[in-house]
Amino acid sequence: MTWIDELPTPNVLVEQARLEANIARMQALAARTGVALRPHTKTHKSVRIARLQTEAGAAGLTVAKVGEAEVLVEAGFDDVRLAYPVVGRDKLERIQALSSTARVSFCVDTLEGARQASEVFQAAGSTATVLIEVDVEYGRCGVHWNDDDSVAFARQVAALPGLEVVGILTHAGQSYNGPSEGETKEAALRRVMAQERDRMLSFASRLKDAGLATPGAFEISVGSTPSIRYFENAAKDGFQITEIRPGNYVFHDAIQQALGVCDWEDCALTVNATVISRHRNDDGSERVFLDAGKKVFTSDRVPSTGVHGTLLYNPRVMEPLPHARLHGCSEEHGWVSIPGGATLEVGDQVRVVPAHACVVMNMFDQFHVVDGDQVVDTWEVSSRGRVS
Ligand SMILES: Cc1ncc(COP(=O)(O)O)c(C=O)c1O
Repeated sequence: MTWIDELPTPNVLVEQARLEANIARMQALAARTGVALRPHTKTHKSVRIARLQTEAGAAGLTVAKVGEAEVLVEAGFDDVRLAYPVVGRDKLERIQALSSTARVSFCVDTLEGARQASEVFQAAGSTATVLIEVDVEYGRCGVHWNDDDSVAFARQVAALPGLEVVGILTHAGQSYNGPSEGETKEAALRRVMAQERDRMLSFASRLKDAGLATPGAFEISVGSTPSIRYFENAAKDGFQITEIRPGNYVFHDAIQQALGVCDWEDCALTVNATVISRHRNDDGSERVFLDAGKKVFTSDRVPSTGVHGTLLYNPRVMEPLPHARLHGCSEEHGWVSIPGGATLEVGDQVRVVPAHACVVMNMFDQFHVVDGDQVVDTWEVSSRGRVS
């Protein structure tokens, strides 16, 4: 039996019971709202966790990159969706190669990208399964949800040989922006969720009017962790939302906690680090350094507080260490300030809920599944570094 404090630090610990509870809760939400759950696996990049998700009832899996899709198909998963516009012949050829063993779908949001996909799949004598990516306000990829040009784009894509348009997909990343002035956190998340749903249904309806979408045979894919808890399905012109794709929910993190999405007790992933140095400042405060910096936490911060993560005083009950702020990171050092003087000694191990769990996973080859202080198993981060 291995105990947590026997592991070399820094390391990533995932509390098994919390992970399983998070997976079960999202599956129940999907069942209650009548949608398929297709979790975004960029969060964990782990074949083992993907298996837990499909065993719990996930209808398929989401990835961003072709390399991630290759890892999942290789592991035997047969329905993988790239929620990402795929551009480049090499990448399209790799997807085409996967298509003989799995149902692999991907996004298009430009005519250039769609034409490339058409050429590659047509040349191979097969048909690509694509979704049109839609922008419902985030301002990243996607065609505008309420634009005549977007309908015209869909018509052009549908006419291309070697492509089958099976639906539309959006990522409402504005759910991470937090409340507007005078708005509660909950109201902000409800607003974004309703907006995302209604704008997608409205676009589907316009496509139907143009003869480009048929209710019951057209996928509408939405959803990210912050707002999904307020998702209620709705019908418009025979369409409903068919699929949700949250990712972060398996772990949650300090950003989700700050947004009011979860409690600390829901956070399944922590970084375990060691205090490597401690010094008193002229004003009586102390600075403490951890053996985990940017190469563990990355540069991501909780927007409202600016910290890279929250140190825990008592990881068993996920109680934060009062006043301690992981306010900075250099490559290999985590900078912690403690205004009233530190209770941490050099050599102590300290557990940290990172600002953003998804990016932390990509920094490690493996993570440890734990039950309290005991290591239950060690799993690989299967698609670590698969960014192309
Ligand atoms: C296209 C897309 N879909 C789904 C998700 C999942 O969002 P979250 O991690 O907030 O659950 C993301 C997250 O970045 C995304 O980019």
